[in-house]
Amino acid sequence: MNIQRVGVIGAGTMGNGIAHVFARGGYSVVLCDVEQRFLNRGLETIIRNLDREVAKNKISADDKAAALQRIDPVTDRARLGDCDFIVEAATEKFAIKTEIFRDLDRVTRPEVILASNTSSISITKIGRLTKRPDKVIGMHFFNPVPVMKLVEVIRGLATSQETFAVVRDLAVHLGKTPVEVNDAPGFVSNRVLMPLLNEAMYTVMEGVATAEAVDEVFKLGMAHPMGPLTLADFIGLDVCLDIMRVLQDGLGDPKYRPCPLLIRMVDAGWLGRKSGRGFYRY
Ligand SMILES: NC(=O)c1ccc[n+]([C@@H]2O[C@H](COP(=O)([O-])OP(=O)(O)OC[C@H]3O[C@@H](n4cnc5c(N)ncnc54)[C@H](O)[C@@H]3O)[C@@H](O)[C@H]2O)c1
Repeated sequence: MNIQRVGVIGAGTMGNGIAHVFARGGYSVVLCDVEQRFLNRGLETIIRNLDREVAKNKISADDKAAALQRIDPVTDRARLGDCDFIVEAATEKFAIKTEIFRDLDRVTRPEVILASNTSSISITKIGRLTKRPDKVIGMHFFNPVPVMKLVEVIRGLATSQETFAVVRDLAVHLGKTPVEVNDAPGFVSNRVLMPLLNEAMYTVMEGVATAEAVDEVFKLGMAHPMGPLTLADFIGLDVCLDIMRVLQDGLGDPKYRPCPLLIRMVDAGWLGRKSGRGFYRY
């Protein structure tokens, strides 16, 4: 399959990183979000991150300029019509993904693979929204996308071997390491990670320790590069809550109950680093 033009839906934390790695990898990218201001913010982040790569001699100033040139920011989804591959990285809500995938099925050519960067929503369920469930797959990047090596490649029940092979090879071409995972709530990464972050939040809520102390325990005792509460702030507390709810609904075990402190913080608009306040202030 000849993939040259890639559509990325959502220019937030993940979407701008995904657009960055595809553009740096030589693909032309159509970056789509609902409002121009979200595109502007995403592009500013891409420029900052490319600058960092130039400063570290990972790419040249010419590579940076060429990568930026390859990104076409749009608010009109019809502009994705000539894309050869799509990655969706919009807000983690099934209602939002439903609207997007139904529309993508209409605006893209029938042979185009539609991938989702969802952290937890069933790929099988997303596939069923389209007339091409064999061409729907999870391509789960990690934050920050330009740095993190892993891509979880998630097969829905109906995903074809051909679709899987294309996405696996694409990940390798981007310099990433694909790991094959079957569809289940939270896949592997978030099924294991999120309950850890959620439990760390319970320890803060119950006054067992401060956020700083919990993070120190994990950094110094388990050699984690950052503690669970710093990581939750980095991921986005709204994203963490959405994922816990998917685990709770999908697996049904009470151990996946979202921490009440997390719910209160999201209600307050304390979403972590991106909102200036979470378990820490930024
Ligand atoms: N944050 C993480 O660490 C992380 C890691 C892996 C996967 N993910 C997943 O990636 C996806 C995006 O997460 P994020 O952290 O980038 O969220 P974010 O809130 O930073 O960005 C989401 C973007 O999607 C846009 N959007 C919403 N509805 C849209 C629509 N209908 N069409 C186009 N754009 C739309 C929003 O305007 C926003 O810019 C989610 O599915 C999330 O679960 C997140």
